[in-house]
Amino acid sequence: MESDSRCNGSAASRRSFLQLGVGVPAALASGILGEPFFAAAARAASLPHGPFPKDAVIIDANENPLGPCSVAREAIAEITGDSGRYSYWLTEDLGKRFAEQQGLTPEYVRAFPGSGEPLHFSVLSFTSASRSYVTADPGYEAGMHAAKISGARVVKTPLTASHAHDVKAMLGAAPDAGLFYVCTPNNPTGTLTPHADIEYLVKDVIVLRTFSKIYGMAGLRCGLAIGRPDLVAKVASFSGWNSLPVTAVAAALTSLDDATVVSERKRINAAVRSETFAWLDKNGYSYIPSVSNCFMLDTKRPTKEIIDAMAARNVFIGRAWPVWPTHVRITVGTKSEMEKFQAAFHEVMQTKSARTMSVPTRSVATNLDGWRVPIALSENS
Ligand SMILES: Cc1ncc(COP(=O)(O)O)c(C=O)c1O
Repeated sequence: MESDSRCNGSAASRRSFLQLGVGVPAALASGILGEPFFAAAARAASLPHGPFPKDAVIIDANENPLGPCSVAREAIAEITGDSGRYSYWLTEDLGKRFAEQQGLTPEYVRAFPGSGEPLHFSVLSFTSASRSYVTADPGYEAGMHAAKISGARVVKTPLTASHAHDVKAMLGAAPDAGLFYVCTPNNPTGTLTPHADIEYLVKDVIVLRTFSKIYGMAGLRCGLAIGRPDLVAKVASFSGWNSLPVTAVAAALTSLDDATVVSERKRINAAVRSETFAWLDKNGYSYIPSVSNCFMLDTKRPTKEIIDAMAARNVFIGRAWPVWPTHVRITVGTKSEMEKFQAAFHEVMQTKSARTMSVPTRSVATNLDGWRVPIALSENS
């Protein structure tokens, strides 16, 4: 990675997440939680919560270490001088451009700051005390949090043997379903659910797309909701009328127009992923084969000790899901980051038990629907 604002470990800055935590209890009660929250909440309170130490390998939050593509960077630089203006029409232009590219009319598409926001609003729109939220287990957690806010029953169904969503089980488990959440490739497994299965499961679909991953724009915040106009309008009604940062929109528009960025980045990601899997195979480690920028690694040990032992070696890996207590999610970073990951992981696995490592453990934690919230955050309320 080149320059990285997440790496700069002064003591004062390491406290910033906990300071930020002042707002977290309120967010837990009624707000949106996203990937950075889940990634940070999974880390021991004593470990950095950003910025990270210098030269840290940060493969815990499914980010793209490549950042925005070069045309997007140029567009950001170009629009910066005009950033004193709202230029709200640009947000609409983004929806229109994407719709045009997909052969849709503009009412089918709405732009948001990321995909987490429309996910949250979709759950609030279509679930309630009498309409449950149905998701895969393991699956991305944010929708479960939103379902708690809407008072909905959360129904979790295991993945199939090929780690797809088990659509028959999902249907069978929830005759009262208000929303079926299908994440494909799935976070955290990076595995696909066949298109035909999704068609079997649902008629009305809202597709959420993000610029955070392949386009490397997680910090810029841009995403899209696509669907029948009445569904999209319902979801968008939660955010009212607001425009996105012009820098994010400019980067997104140019990224969409770049004919090579998606294929090139898929190629890079696949190459690093394959090399990592080859190394894991060679060394006898188990993992679930993935087609995305993350995969589940079976450490055969309680994951917390592995996560902490890796962090002590300046390699930050991502979290575990209660249903699979020995698996930990690894984000596919750059080639050099994955080489550092390999060296650190090998070393950790050579120790009899990573429990012997001198990493301070989290003092206290509470369990909220499968993910852990540092008490330190709650105490700041
Ligand atoms: C499945 C899924 N949905 C939503 C998000 C939220 O990301 P963003 O709001 O940056 O689009 C993530 C982040 O990792 C994710 O994995």
